[in-house]
Amino acid sequence: MALQIITAPDPRLKLIAKPVDRVSEDIEHLMRQMADTMYAAPGIGLAAPQVGQPLQIIVVDVGNDDNPDQPGQLYMMANPIIEWISDDTCFYKEGCLSLPDQYADVERPAHVKVRYVNEQNQEKTLTAGGLLATCIQHEIDHLNGLLFVDHISQLRRNMIYRRLLKQRRLDTTAN
Ligand code: NI
Repeated sequence: MALQIITAPDPRLKLIAKPVDRVSEDIEHLMRQMADTMYAAPGIGLAAPQVGQPLQIIVVDVGNDDNPDQPGQLYMMANPIIEWISDDTCFYKEGCLSLPDQYADVERPAHVKVRYVNEQNQEKTLTAGGLLATCIQHEIDHLNGLLFVDHISQLRRNMIYRRLLKQRRLDTTAN
C-alpha cells in the first residue's frame, strides 16, 4: 500500500526527525511501506518525514545500471549518520517527490561513508559514490528539515516554490 507523499511547501518537511529506538516489526513495516511508495511514485529515495512520520528513516534504491527494468539494491536505513565525506564533489540534477517536476543541479561530496541500522536492527556501514552517495545525502537532509532547494540560490529556490504554488492552485481549481 502506497503512503501519501507530502509536497512542499509544508511545515512537516521542515521538522527535525527523531531517532528510532530500535527497528521493531512496526518500524520494519513502515520501511517496507516507504519502499513500496518510492517504487510506485516512482522515485529513487524517500524519507519518513515525506510521508508524515518525523522519524530518522530513509529508503534508497538508485536502480540497476546494467538492467534499468530491474530494481537495484534497496537500502532501508534507520538513524543514518554520515561518518565521512570526500573532498571531491560532484553535481547531479536532483529532483524530489516532495517537489514534483522540479529539478536543479546540486553540488555535494562525491563519496560518503554512512552508518545506519538496517531493517533487521543490525548496525551497518556503507561507503557509496556516484548517484547512491548523492541520494543518501539528499534523503538524510530530509531528516534535518532540508530540501535540495536549500542548496541552491534563493532566487532559484523562490522560482521553484512559485511554480509549485501555481501548480497547486491549478490542481485545486481542477478538482
Ligand atoms: Ni527528496
